Amino acid sequence: MSDDGIRIDYALAMEDGSSSGLTTAELEAEAPAFERGLRRVLAEAEGGRLGFWTLPDDHIDLEKVLAFAKKVPATIRDVLVLGIGGSSLGGRALVEALGPAFPDPDARRIHYPDNSDPWRLVGLLENLDPKGTLVLVISKSGGTVETAAQLLVVREWLNAAGAPMKDHLVAITDPAKGLLRELADAEGLRSFDIPSNVGGRFSVLTPVGLLPGALAGLDVAGLLAGAKAMRDRCARTELQANPAGVVAALHVLHHRLHGRPIHVMMPYADALRGYANWFVQLWAESLGKRVDRQDRVVETGPTPLPAVGATDQHAQVQLFMEGPRDKLITFVALAEPLAHRTIPKEEGPYAYLGGTDLAELLDFERRATALALARDGRPSLTLTLPRLDAHHLGELFFLMEAATAIAGELYGIDAFDQPGVELGKRLAYGLLGREGYEDAADEVQELERGLPSHRV
Ligand code: PA5
Repeated sequence: MSDDGIRIDYALAMEDGSSSGLTTAELEAEAPAFERGLRRVLAEAEGGRLGFWTLPDDHIDLEKVLAFAKKVPATIRDVLVLGIGGSSLGGRALVEALGPAFPDPDARRIHYPDNSDPWRLVGLLENLDPKGTLVLVISKSGGTVETAAQLLVVREWLNAAGAPMKDHLVAITDPAKGLLRELADAEGLRSFDIPSNVGGRFSVLTPVGLLPGALAGLDVAGLLAGAKAMRDRCARTELQANPAGVVAALHVLHHRLHGRPIHVMMPYADALRGYANWFVQLWAESLGKRVDRQDRVVETGPTPLPAVGATDQHAQVQLFMEGPRDKLITFVALAEPLAHRTIPKEEGPYAYLGGTDLAELLDFERRATALALARDGRPSLTLTLPRLDAHHLGELFFLMEAATAIAGELYGIDAFDQPGVELGKRLAYGLLGREGYEDAADEVQELERGLPSHRV
């Protein structure tokens, strides 16, 4: 495949490729809304309010990250990343996509406990050597309860081993505000900034993703270069020349006009499982909103679903093929596979497989699945990466970030806030007995008292 970057094939999402696809007229009719939305995104970026758009140009952070990673001593064998949501999923997807299939015993290992479920964190702390571990604590707001709780536990673990915080703990947070910034400044911890105009789920190209990537020895400069190449394509004002515009318009139109609110991200590459999970959070938290920009109640948003080929052909594809016609599937293919292995030729019942490459088999399965779905009027599009390297992963990250921003415009909502998670946080603080949240504690009691008893 010639390397003009990621290619998007969407014939199977259009009427002439799949009986229930969009008509050309439907897509073309969205062009003015797309152009208005894009211009607004570009203006916000230019005005410095939408930081993710200009991250690929940020050489200062890149240099700082690379210089830091270079100085981390070889005795640091493990990196423990504390963070959740946007402070975890992007970095994790990056390390998973570009790292080896099987951990090299000599390479530095990067761990993402992510959840505050103690099961994994405790397992890690019982097995890692504190003096050989560098802890990155990542929180844009600095107030996230799961991350704060993990941080306290990990500090106790480092302290007990006599591992100095200044050498073993690095904070990645807002440059000026928040509890983590206060702590880092008060204790003289080494720290990196998440620009204040970049939200958590759009932060993979800041030190949030770059630092773990650099510590794992990955080509983070290549990642940014790929993101930049995609950013330039995504600034084109002609809808059908703009990859993010096409992705956003297909999803929004299939939802609004054809009743397909379920958006499946299905890479045929095991290394992109983490990417599918990153996409789910990006799409869900950005686009699921109660009110539109005019403050009218719309309660809109797509439901993203992660899947992996060929594994999910034996799990979810039955549903995709015969269940409700409410899905648009995005397949991700690699033109050049990460590995090859020819299936040996053998007489007997499996003789038909002999001589085929395992990677070729995977690709045949993707094509067969897409065509089978299309034959029954179930639409899809395919993103093809020339290969899965830092450059093309950078393109892939930026593509979906830009598509999310544009989809937000087409849905008419603010893709950059997340007010829906606030009430749950407040009630949890009430349960924790946090000062200032006494009314939330009362509210929990009241809500629970008011529940009828339906139990078995
Ligand atoms: O995308 C987002 O804004 C969220 O998913 C946050 O990343 C997540 O809630 C963690 O927040 P913080 O980075 O402030 O700890």
